[in-house]
Amino acid sequence: MIFAFETSCDETSTAILNQEGKLLSHIVNSQQEHQKYGGVVPEIASRMHLQILQTIVPQSLKEAKIELKDIDIFCATCGPGLVGSLLVGSTMAKSMAISNNKPFYPINHLEGHLLSPTFNNKLRFPYLAILLTGGHTQIYIVKNIGDYELLGETVDDAVGESFDKVAKLLGLGYPGGPLIEKIAKKGNANSFDLPHPMQFKKNLNFSFSGIKTAVNLLTKKHTHITEKIKNDIAASFQNKIIEIIEKRITLALEMLKKRGYEIKDITIVGGVAANKKMIQAFLNLSENYNCRLTTALVKLCGDNAAMIAWTCYQRQKIGIKPDLSFKVDPRLKL
Ligand code: KG4
Ligand code: ZN
Repeated sequence: MIFAFETSCDETSTAILNQEGKLLSHIVNSQQEHQKYGGVVPEIASRMHLQILQTIVPQSLKEAKIELKDIDIFCATCGPGLVGSLLVGSTMAKSMAISNNKPFYPINHLEGHLLSPTFNNKLRFPYLAILLTGGHTQIYIVKNIGDYELLGETVDDAVGESFDKVAKLLGLGYPGGPLIEKIAKKGNANSFDLPHPMQFKKNLNFSFSGIKTAVNLLTKKHTHITEKIKNDIAASFQNKIIEIIEKRITLALEMLKKRGYEIKDITIVGGVAANKKMIQAFLNLSENYNCRLTTALVKLCGDNAAMIAWTCYQRQKIGIKPDLSFKVDPRLKL
């Protein structure tokens, strides 16, 4: 029985997973306090985690219909993320492990995202994973549990971050991804020709900051931004982002083929993977390459403790040892 904590950013989440890998409880509390600032305020996030955990820890046990003594393993996200927030969740999980004389597993948040689609799907190794979150934009080849090769990543803004920044420029609110997706449906994606940074580079890295700057210039050019202009900018922006990622996945598949890899499964993970337009585009691309596209359950797309519990479950199953002395690392690598 695993009790997992996720507090790397602005979601406070706990989950309890049983011996068969079934979720007995899963609570995700998205902190609303950051909305008025248009982004996450680290100090507020840490304080809120501390407050919210006091409520949701007992609530999780109640929901799972178990007692604290029934928990065999405690685990928590130990990075990457906001250092204060990571400290709150991991310290609470470690304290509970110590006082109950149980092991503690530190979990990498990125591994949580990468393994999230395997919770309800069988993916064949090696699979291609595109990680799209508010803090990361990376392409990995997942060779096995614990064996990941980073193929490329953003050199500046993360894709979710650029959705959030563009939403802010359009006065939409936070988080920006779902809000852009919503108004983009009403817009014309061919209205504005936005740049495609690093288009001709033959590597698997991304750059998104130029698009954000282009949107910024567009908003300054119009003295009055009508709803129609907003919708058109959102649609053009979303389309360009999808086009950029599509190109990189295509290049990744070509490069891997040359290296002798036979990829049968592709997955997009992280908060941005909730974008329907993006999923549709990648479905078409996967079909062209005879691959199957898998996404995680919606509740496992954003930041959540279920993926942390699931990762811990997989790691202890292959014999990885617990580590109570592990220190949180805001820049923890895979
Ligand atoms: O994985 P996640 O929940 O948290 C991080 O680890 O960062 O990702 C959050 C990001 C935010 O930037 C948010 O705007 C974006 O995911 N996002 C979306 C959508 N839903 C969430 N971006 C585009 N379209 C969406 N539907
Ligand atoms: Zn995340």
